[in-house]
Amino acid sequence: MSLQLLDKLAEGGGLSHAEYVELLQARSPALAEELFARARRVRDRIYGPQVFLRGLVELTSYCRNDCYYCGLRRSNRNAERYRLTPEQILASCEVGYRLGFRTFVLQGGEDEYFIDERVVALVRSVKASCPGSAVTLSLGEKPYESYRQLREAGAERYLLRHETADPEHYRKLHPENLTLENRLRCLHDLRSLGFQTGAGFIVGSPGQTLDCLAKDLAFLADFKPEMIGIGPFMPHHDTPFAQAPAGDLDLTLFLLGVIRLLLPTVLLPATTALGSIHPRGRELGVLAGANVIMPNLSPPDVRDKYSIYDNKLSSGAEAAEGLEDLRRRLAEINCRIAPGRGDHPNFAQPDETTAASSKKM
Ligand code: 5AD
Repeated sequence: MSLQLLDKLAEGGGLSHAEYVELLQARSPALAEELFARARRVRDRIYGPQVFLRGLVELTSYCRNDCYYCGLRRSNRNAERYRLTPEQILASCEVGYRLGFRTFVLQGGEDEYFIDERVVALVRSVKASCPGSAVTLSLGEKPYESYRQLREAGAERYLLRHETADPEHYRKLHPENLTLENRLRCLHDLRSLGFQTGAGFIVGSPGQTLDCLAKDLAFLADFKPEMIGIGPFMPHHDTPFAQAPAGDLDLTLFLLGVIRLLLPTVLLPATTALGSIHPRGRELGVLAGANVIMPNLSPPDVRDKYSIYDNKLSSGAEAAEGLEDLRRRLAEINCRIAPGRGDHPNFAQPDETTAASSKKM
């Protein structure tokens, strides 16, 4: 019965709400193995057994928001705040560029210092000093006009997880001023501006049920983001959810496999949270169908300050300097690092092939 649900997933068009719930309830080690084998086949057919790298630069740990799960929430007086200078940001990207990175993700809290004008200037300077690179922004909710200017400055992609597609669950994770409605408005604005758009959710956040996850999957099947980020919930000691249990590794992996079958061409990271919850978390993510890894390019002295949850990895294979380690770990699972920007196939660049035919990095 559950194999039929996997067949149906692979046919496209998604499942009904009840079927998503049924599939998640039927999760067993044997079903997971079968799902992962199918997910890898689908990924390999489209992209080859490769992962794309994104160099992550964490611009600022200031945030005006107060999300209950996040260590960078405004009310956390113990959080160490920092803000990188344009020179530091550019230098971080240039280090990555020399290492072969061709996508830079500028991520940060919703920091009022980074007004549109400043981000526009940053995007332009990264594009100028790292020719042939894509710029991804991950700077939270903004008005349409801001997104428009950022797009015009040359940013190609934007990550904004929807966090949960269930409005009541959204209320349990965020204060009143943040709504699922505005989150979705942002995602639609980004798409309409021609950004490759990323959504995603936290697995095992407090109050989440299989019903919520079924809604997340239905939302993804409908919106069809070019990129999807999911990772296990990790408690942070200075948040209202300090005592909540971490999300489940196996459930996260299972959802990665489901997402790969549902949206075969999606760019799907094995996230830092996955690497943080288990020593081989990233590899397990790749074995479940993920095809993106985002090593940290931020200056080493600020990395610990970007503390969205406890025990967040920022060194070893997680760090840009750990590329050799990452290469070795990927080789052990018969996978390699893909060259190039790694655009979604619907946004293919004229001079880039994403498939297995491309050169080795
Ligand atoms: N555990 C796991 N993921 C988290 N995020 C924020 N806080 C946590 C946490 N405690 C995720 C959110 C956010 C992304 C940058 O990190 O989904 O969008």
